[in-house]
Amino acid sequence: MSSLKKRYLKKFRYKIPDYIPEKFIKPKQVIDVISAWEGLDLIIPDILKRFNIGNETCIEFGVEFGFSAVVFSNYFSEVIGIDTFQGDIHTDHKSNHFEKTKASLAEFENIKLIKSTYQEWIKADKRMYDFAHVDIIHTYEDTFECGMWAAMHSKCAIFHDTESFMEVRKAVIDIARYAGKKLYNYPFHNGLGIITEK
Ligand SMILES: C[S@@+](CC[C@H](N)C(=O)[O-])C[C@H]1O[C@@H](n2cnc3c(N)ncnc32)[C@H](O)[C@@H]1O
Repeated sequence: MSSLKKRYLKKFRYKIPDYIPEKFIKPKQVIDVISAWEGLDLIIPDILKRFNIGNETCIEFGVEFGFSAVVFSNYFSEVIGIDTFQGDIHTDHKSNHFEKTKASLAEFENIKLIKSTYQEWIKADKRMYDFAHVDIIHTYEDTFECGMWAAMHSKCAIFHDTESFMEVRKAVIDIARYAGKKLYNYPFHNGLGIITEK
């Protein structure tokens, strides 16, 4: 079977209802760094409004150079960004970029960066957040472990790369099922899984 056909069949099997935004709104502040996340910034206000999400706290797992963290800083009083800042097998950049990211995000006072694995962080954090974003290494196991925590500790958890990594897509489907929550997928810009209350 051709790999294209295999991909098509897998997508059909792992189908998720589409998220259809009503409005596309550009955030006031963005930063000019390379990111596969670009384009998703336009639908964040639509998601927050649709699911009636508060504007206090947001936690992000997978910050890299800070594109998505800065997008969230437009809409939340506090954004916590967790990353090893070392890159992973799926990122182009694989050396320490903590200081570089910290310097370029310094002007965004509501973003707090923490150099940690998600594994260490979720052992201790018992808080509930308005919003969570998972964009770490794109394996099934890591997305499931980090994402399950995110889904249980937020009103709405979003996941990047549901179109470009089948493992992420499968993990997101399983998280929604185990957590008893609703799942949508925005199929552009590599895909965004959205898990919300029923
Ligand atoms: C795709 S990048 C994040 C991109 C970012 N959200 C953006 O807006 O461009 C993935 C990031 O996840 C981080 N990462 C990978 N595994 C991790 C883990 N176990 N714990 C914390 N961060 C991890 C990597 O260091 C990398 O910076």
